[in-house]
Parts: sequence; C-alpha cells; structure tokens
Amino acid sequence: MLQAVILVGGEGTRLRPLTETIPKPMMPVLNRPFLEHAFQHLRTHSVDEVFLALGYLPDAIEAHFGNGADIGISLHYSQEHKPMGTAGAIKRLQDKLKSTFIVCNGDIFTNLDITNMLSFHRERNSKTTIFLTPVENPSAFGVVETDHEGRVHRFIEKPAPSQITSKWINGGIYLLEPEVLDRIPRDRHFMFERGLFPHLVESGVTVYGYKDHPYWLDMGTPQSYLRLHADLLYKDTVGDPFLYSNCVDCEIKPNALIKGPVLLGRGCRVESKATIQGPVTIGPNCHIKANASIANSVIWPETTVGAESVIEKSIVGRNVHIGSNVTIGEGSILADGVIVNDGTNIEPGSTFGSFEHIVNDQDILNVHAHSYP
Ligand code: GDD
Ligand code: MG
Repeated sequence: MLQAVILVGGEGTRLRPLTETIPKPMMPVLNRPFLEHAFQHLRTHSVDEVFLALGYLPDAIEAHFGNGADIGISLHYSQEHKPMGTAGAIKRLQDKLKSTFIVCNGDIFTNLDITNMLSFHRERNSKTTIFLTPVENPSAFGVVETDHEGRVHRFIEKPAPSQITSKWINGGIYLLEPEVLDRIPRDRHFMFERGLFPHLVESGVTVYGYKDHPYWLDMGTPQSYLRLHADLLYKDTVGDPFLYSNCVDCEIKPNALIKGPVLLGRGCRVESKATIQGPVTIGPNCHIKANASIANSVIWPETTVGAESVIEKSIVGRNVHIGSNVTIGEGSILADGVIVNDGTNIEPGSTFGSFEHIVNDQDILNVHAHSYP
C-alpha cells in the first residue's frame, strides 16, 4: 500500500473568476469534483491513505470528503495558513510519511500507470522519480532533460523559448523516499520546481525521470478545462449510464435535438427545439429553455439558459441565470450566480465575476470590481 500527498493549496488564478467560489480541485469534471477522479485513479494503484495539502478555500474540500470513508481512502488534511510552496507543503508531513510515497499536483487528470512507475523507481533504487510526459509547447511547464538511462541532468521551470531543449516536461507526479524530505527546509516557502529538483541535480543526487505517454492534462486554464471535458466525452470513458439518454429524473422534450457526446446531470429540463451539440456537459438541475443552443461548453448545476439563447465554447458557473435571446461568444466565462438580462450580446472571450448582473455588453451593474491579468 502506498501513501499519497495531493497538493491542493494553489489559488487557481488562471481559472478565475470560477475559482473565486470553489477551489480548483472541487471544480466539477463530468459533474463530479475533480478530486473524486484523482482519488479513484490513486485507489486503483494501491493508494489507501491520502494527505491533502490545503491552502486556498480548504473548507469546501474537507466538508465534501470528510475522513474519506465514502471513497474508500483514509483522508487527512494539512492546512497551511500561508502558502508553503509545493515542497514546503510536503515537509510539514514529514513525520507521517514513513516509506515510498507519491506526490500529485492537484490539477492533473491522467491515467498514468503508477504501478509501473513504482516498479521503475524500485528497480533503480531511486530516491526521487519524476513522471515525464511530452507536450507540444513546454513553456508553461517544467522542462526536464534526462540522459539515455533516465537520469535527470537539468530541470528548468517555465523555460524561456531559448531554454526549451526537450518536449518532455514534469507531469506533476513524483515518487519520493522519505529521506529526501531532509533536504527541504522547515517552516519556509520552498518549491520542488525551482528549489528541490534543480538543487538535487546540481548537487549530484540522482533523480530519475520516468517517461510515459498516458492521457495527461493539467486542467489549470479555461482552455484545458474545456479540452478535458471534450477528451473524456469523446473517449466515452464515462460509460453509458452518464450519457443524456440515461439522465436520471430529466425531462427532455422529444423535439429537443441532442447530438454528439452530451452529459446531462440529474434533474435537468431541456425544452422544445433546444439544441445541444456535444461535447457538452451540463450539471444537475439545469433548465435549457425552448430553441436555446449550446455547443462545446461546460455548464455547472442549477443554471438556466433562456429561450433562443446561444452559448458556444464557454464555461458557465453554478446558479447562473441567462435570459432569453442572449448570445454568449466563444471563450467566455460566467462565474457562479451571474445574471444576464434578455437580449444581451456577450462578446467572445468575455469574463464575468460571481454575481455580476449583465444588462448588455457595455453596461454592467453590481460589479464586484474584478480585474484579472
Ligand atoms: N499546499 C500547497 N501549497 N499547494 C500548492 C502551493 C502551496 O504553496 N502552490 C501550488 N500548490 C499546488 C497547486 O494547488 C497545484 O495543485 C499544484 O501545486 C501545482 O501548481 P500549479 O499552479 O498548477 O503549477 P503549474 O501548473 O503552473 O506548474 C506545475 O505543474 C506542471 C504540470 O502541470 C509545475 O510542477 C510544473 O513543473 C509542471 O510541469
Ligand atoms: Mg497546474
């Protein structure tokens, strides 16, 4: 059996304003909190005890999962009162981590074969093994260079274009031996990425990179969050019971048009001639009114989409009220509780913070003064 630590302390800045009300690891993925998928994956690879390293909006996570009895994992919480950094967060758990353990970034969706990675780690008697995955554009990640036997000889976090020498990046999953924790300073902010890993490599400590090509996605941006839903729906990994045809307590008018992979949550209503063109995920208890049209989007629970309104490639939060004849341009984000008046035209790429009231595209009432870089 393996212990795991999941790093869930970040603020999810790139997913604001959605993460104003819900921490990134609780954001729904196919209508279930992201962490539920992560726990399920870990459990299939013999993880029976998980420590959640919390910081931002911790209560929502603890209130939902409690001691983990419902998910068959023994769950513990470690709350940082100021961010300790990815490695600093693990240092706080030093007295609990007694043998080889796994560390996961709390926003990675993957079906990595952890059991194989563990064999790789043990066969080499490695103290630190980093899972490496190839990506087209490594600039938003940590680039890792290895020799032909997999030993890491360079680690560059968020490389400038001239520093990109490999497509293999840090996949945000590590196997560590407890003794490595001695190298992390106590009681101060310290990162694996800019601190521990470069330091280990420079001081000649062997760090292994484990290269693999599983499904892998960091869901930390709006684009990747939508991409994740599309990927999962097209791969049909959710299985039949989740698809709209099996929606529980749903009311779908016979002349509504539902095409492609669409996941409808429990208790949804879809009115006459509404069109839903998958990949689309709609949370429980949403109401899609007559002639509305939704494509390539994710909609959270309890939201209403008014008659004749159009939504494309967007993310719509919980309990949002979209009036009739509204157009929501591609790439928009409407956070929880937003109200959009009838007839409003929302420009592509618009972002509205929680509980904003949108009268039309120029005139916004009740704004909570949001400004995000
Ligand atoms: N507990 C705790 N405390 N968690 C933290 C802290 C902290 O101070 N800072 C960040 N985290 C958590 C975040 O919640 C997230 O789950 C994880 O650490 C990684 O942070 P991100 O902000 O998502 O980092 P990133 O995506 O830019 O880069 C990281 O992941 C890439 C793979 O997706 C790095 O590890 C890169 O090297 C890597 O390639
Ligand atoms: Mg990330």
